[in-house]
Amino acid sequence: MPGRHHLFVPGPTNIPDRVLRAMHRGSEDHRSRAFPWLVLPLLEEVARLFDTTAGRVALFPATGTGGWEAALTNTLPPGATVLLPCSGQFADLWGTTAGNLGYQVERFEDLTWGAPPPPARIAEVLRTDTERRIGAVLVVHNETSTGVTADLPAIRRAMDESGHPALLMVDGVSSIASLPYHHDAWGVDIALTGSQKGLMLPAGLAILALSPRALDAVHVVNTPRAYFDLRPMLAQSVEGYFPYTPSIPMLHGLRESLAMLFEEGLERVWMRHHRLASGVRAAAAAWDLPLVARDITCASDSVSALQVPDGIDARDIIASAFNHQDLALGSGLGRLAGKVFRIGHLGDLNEGMLLGALGLVELALADGGVRVEFGHGVSAAQRIWWGGE
Ligand SMILES: Cc1ncc(COP(=O)(O)O)c(C=O)c1O
Repeated sequence: MPGRHHLFVPGPTNIPDRVLRAMHRGSEDHRSRAFPWLVLPLLEEVARLFDTTAGRVALFPATGTGGWEAALTNTLPPGATVLLPCSGQFADLWGTTAGNLGYQVERFEDLTWGAPPPPARIAEVLRTDTERRIGAVLVVHNETSTGVTADLPAIRRAMDESGHPALLMVDGVSSIASLPYHHDAWGVDIALTGSQKGLMLPAGLAILALSPRALDAVHVVNTPRAYFDLRPMLAQSVEGYFPYTPSIPMLHGLRESLAMLFEEGLERVWMRHHRLASGVRAAAAAWDLPLVARDITCASDSVSALQVPDGIDARDIIASAFNHQDLALGSGLGRLAGKVFRIGHLGDLNEGMLLGALGLVELALADGGVRVEFGHGVSAAQRIWWGGE
């Protein structure tokens, strides 16, 4: 189809032209004297993104899934237990990764998909763990499958009140660079993200931030590690180098994407995401399609999962959007397959782009058999963005 493709999956997201241009360059010697001029300031900017001065950051040529593995194996001894509030597909998959690596995964299996991880219950389990078996609590900050954001400060408070020393490990794959995140102030021990969502890059970087306590653990645990070993990574990055060949175009792209985010101002970036999300939520309400998110207090500002009426298969809507409108929507994952479609509203995005997408969603809904009044969702979003009536 002529014209631009409409990419509204919750990652990978649109890559801004500035970032594409920054990545478009020939190879360089990653052992040269000049290479640290790229890497050292970049690591400082990444630390600024995570809002950490006490901790350290690391960049692995990998994706978010690699970040899960790196976080676990570098800070938890073999066979340790992790506590996992399991309220979505990505929490579930992180638990599977931990299990595959030989960790004992204690899951809250009965959580409603659509509710955030419950701080009080985490504290309750930690309080009863008198033998201190639990090494870490694993929290997906923004569950991309359900469009639900966890309350990390409340979880930290609950963990502190329990007096348990478990590490707080956070998946920020669809939150960091889109939603507020404060590594030091929120007392997170290990956070990880990927490059292909709020950072507006291709997939290919797993980015980690570690607190001083997590850094201590890196040097104490004896878990077998190879590619994802943080010890050589942290040792060499002090000098501005990597233990192996990094993807250099990705590093240039990351510098540019961070420059864009800081030029806009992180708070404004978060506010823009909130504003865009509010418009999408208004459109969903106008279409009478409930969000998977239980209520507005936990509804994500980076992705919305919309439930379709009984008897309608959301996959038909997604297929029609792709085939006829050149619009890519996110599918329902795991137990939500066929029941929801997801609209990603994160990254390099503005109201005009979203209005176009919402108009196309209306066409795809009609194609998929949902009764929809054309223009209702679009005008609901317009009213939010115009300032209301
Ligand atoms: C919350 C969350 N965690 C982890 C992942 C896995 O990341 P990746 O696909 O980069 O390995 C995703 C991917 O969408 C995600 O949304």
